[in-house]
Amino acid sequence: MKQIKKAVFPVAGMGTRFLPATKANPKEMLPVVDKPLIQYAAEEAVAAGIDTLIFVTGRNKRSIEDHFDTAYELERELEAKSKQKMLEVLRNILPKHVNCVFIRQSQALGLGHAVLCARPVVNDEPFAVILADDLINFTDKPCLRQMVDLFNFQHCSILGTETIPKEDVSSYGIVDGVKLKEGLMEVSGIVEKPKVEDAPSNSAVVGRYILTPNIFDLLEKTQKGAGNEIQLTDAIAELLKEQRVLAYNFDGRRFDCGSKLGYLKAQVEFALEHHEVGSDFRAYLNELNARENQKIIQMKKPS
Ligand code: G1P
Repeated sequence: MKQIKKAVFPVAGMGTRFLPATKANPKEMLPVVDKPLIQYAAEEAVAAGIDTLIFVTGRNKRSIEDHFDTAYELERELEAKSKQKMLEVLRNILPKHVNCVFIRQSQALGLGHAVLCARPVVNDEPFAVILADDLINFTDKPCLRQMVDLFNFQHCSILGTETIPKEDVSSYGIVDGVKLKEGLMEVSGIVEKPKVEDAPSNSAVVGRYILTPNIFDLLEKTQKGAGNEIQLTDAIAELLKEQRVLAYNFDGRRFDCGSKLGYLKAQVEFALEHHEVGSDFRAYLNELNARENQKIIQMKKPS
């Protein structure tokens, strides 16, 4: 079985939930502390042993290409000013052995269609898909590394999943299946964004997938589904009729950076862990908390 060496990043979405911030800038370029979301995703792929990053882009996504390209003028300027540390940061955005490929998805036909656009580069290899707006923090191993390790043992498609509150099922792909052991399930069914009453479980697929190349033929045949889009979930539902698909409850904390609240939570938690600003930020939050508590006490005082 081939190794996972390629990751697909569907980044053609419009990011309407973040307008006006995403009017001229892609949502994947929104920063969490000092790195754009897409860079966290790329770093997670590289940490999982991936050497080819395939970005499926659309209109207004030029800055993603620029981000992963050499910025000569900026480098010359930093060199002239002897800003060595900043230069290192710029030059180490990706290791030298990693290649980026950009494919244009000319029509916004959905996630399934975006993945299909990567077919000419992925060919007949198993591959990963990362949705950059699901940002996943980790303590031990990054999420995709955990999934690749599992793939090297199980040799089948694997979906990164999380148990979510029942009322949120209509925002996700929801899986059904048989528990194999703690955190691992053999998938028997999957449905995109079901109504609460129709959901087979509250186990949701988050933006991490390892797929066998068999998914491509199925995507070719997939008709428009939920939201009138070609859904990756629908092709996976077909895939599991012919191959084993596992659902893996990864170890880590996911932030839905496609929503304002999730994005704000990510900012706070990543800032608290940041080597440069972490301790000052913690002190600030404590001070803020004390001020807020003071306000509550004041409000409760009888006048
Ligand atoms: C996509 C997938 C969905 C998955 C979700 C994870 O939906 O279609 O199955 O659960 O990502 O974030 P989207 O959030 O793009 O609507």
